[in-house]
Amino acid sequence: MSTAAGEHLSQRTIVAHLADIFERRGGEEYLGEAVTMAEHMLQAAHLAEQQGEEEEIIVAALLHDIGHFTSEFGMFSLEDTHDRRHESAGAKVLEGFFPSVVTDCVRLHVAAKRFLCATDQDYLQQLSEASIHSLRLQGGPMTSKEVAAFEKRPHAREVVRVRLLDDAGKIAGMATPGFAHYAPMVQRVVDRYCGHQES
Ligand SMILES: [Fe+2]
Repeated sequence: MSTAAGEHLSQRTIVAHLADIFERRGGEEYLGEAVTMAEHMLQAAHLAEQQGEEEEIIVAALLHDIGHFTSEFGMFSLEDTHDRRHESAGAKVLEGFFPSVVTDCVRLHVAAKRFLCATDQDYLQQLSEASIHSLRLQGGPMTSKEVAAFEKRPHAREVVRVRLLDDAGKIAGMATPGFAHYAPMVQRVVDRYCGHQES
């Protein structure tokens, strides 16, 4: 199943690999939204930075939709890349390099939408039309049992914060720094997790 692209990634190459994905694939449409995939993720990261979030949250916001590009990691078949459970796929490709707070924020950003729809009356009102549409496909708002289980998760608060950044990062024409601005920060997060050993 695995191909060359995924096998060659290491602590030293993962950030350049992510930069390359942003560069080559970032211009792709974010279905139903007024921004491209790269604009969307860069806006989420930019807003996180403006809000004074910690580096792990900024990086999670930056990478939360990386699962749309799993074919770039050589771990999934082409069929799987078309936004089918992109949140799980995204967490999986980041797992070897990023701490669980980052991968949880990626893995659970759809669950967080379902959580917020169940617990915050105002939240649904500010969701984009495309996001409301996908909510139905994603199972609708959480049941009270699901809400209770979600709240017990170790990074529930961080996951919700990244979700709100995700929702906010859909502003047509908003200027943000590019991936290069975040690259050193992404590397720091990777290095803190992996250690500074050569790999
Ligand atoms: Fe998103």
